[in-house]
Amino acid sequence: MVKYLGSKRRLVPAIVKIAEALPGVRTACDLFAGTTRVGQGFKRAGIHVLSNDLASYSHVLGQAYIATDARETNLPRLRELLEHLNGLSSEDGYFTETFCRRSRYFQPHNGMRIDAIRGEIDRLTLTSSERAVLLTALLLAADRVDSTTGLQMAYLKQWSPRSHATLELTLPELLPGMGEVRQMDANRLAEGLKDVDLAYIDPPYNQHSYAGNYHVWETLVRNDRPEVYGVACKRMDCRQTRSRYNSRIQCRDAFSQLIAELAPRVPWLLVSFSTEGHLSPVEIHEILRGAGHVESRAFDYKRYVGAQIGVYNPQGVKVGTPTHFRNQEQLFLVGPDPRIVRRALDGASGVIVS
Ligand SMILES: C[S@@+](CC[C@H](N)C(=O)[O-])C[C@H]1O[C@@H](n2cnc3c(N)ncnc32)[C@H](O)[C@@H]1O
Repeated sequence: MVKYLGSKRRLVPAIVKIAEALPGVRTACDLFAGTTRVGQGFKRAGIHVLSNDLASYSHVLGQAYIATDARETNLPRLRELLEHLNGLSSEDGYFTETFCRRSRYFQPHNGMRIDAIRGEIDRLTLTSSERAVLLTALLLAADRVDSTTGLQMAYLKQWSPRSHATLELTLPELLPGMGEVRQMDANRLAEGLKDVDLAYIDPPYNQHSYAGNYHVWETLVRNDRPEVYGVACKRMDCRQTRSRYNSRIQCRDAFSQLIAELAPRVPWLLVSFSTEGHLSPVEIHEILRGAGHVESRAFDYKRYVGAQIGVYNPQGVKVGTPTHFRNQEQLFLVGPDPRIVRRALDGASGVIVS
């Protein structure tokens, strides 16, 4: 799975355990789905998932992992398509020029493979699910040979060791079961949410914009050849697409409004928040109190890979070393019954996260 800021990779077992401990949870909405890892955990547990995020790459990951039913998928055809794409001759196009020469996220030999494969995906006649699986395979393959610390606001000055490898598509692990995907502002989605038993809420927790930090994935999925700016070659629209959750001033209102919309519609709310975020645990508790009985637990957590490696400027030069390697991720559970809330969180506290 892709390197992603704020990804809940290690927390997924605890989150799923909580969902399983709640009575009557058959459907869950992952409102800020990112990599869709949490939704995948719910889906594996037999829960019907509605996955949502503003980003196009998350939408594609959701179509592949959440909305595609592995039992209904023609796997031999997908393998054939992947073989065809892996066998294409390289093409020197927009991706190579923008992300391998003007900037250095990938080595040109891989950029040219990406250009060839991305163009061919749009030329092939595919179902929406096949298209999403192939784009997911391309995104994962590109992530395996990139030259970043996991964020796309900068690339490394020296090529990363993995960037020398040849990009190769492999079949993503598809899951059995149905699911749904949306690409909406979470607050708008919440206004019309129906028939959802559990909402998982994992908003951006600081000023780092996902649109700016994952602009290469956005362009790869959209294939819209945008104009770019700066050393990092970010899409021009990154300047406009800022989330209210990235703003210290606006995030409190955005989060309060979201909870006010969800409270009358969804019986159980599960919220993740980093202790490094704009809102303090006390503030979050205050906001959630209006929605039901609230309890929280802190999980000691290794910081995302970029923060482990160091601080880099847009030219890819290391300008600082990390001050700490771990932070705490706080899980807040809100529901109608205090005993069940406490028991569900206590049960998850035993799940090791490192
Ligand atoms: C902390 S990350 C979620 C990580 C995810 N739980 C995972 O494990 O991969 C926050 C996500 O919220 C998305 N986002 C930001 N603002 C949003 C909004 N207003 N509505 C929906 N999604 C938003 C970002 O694109 C990002 O993927």
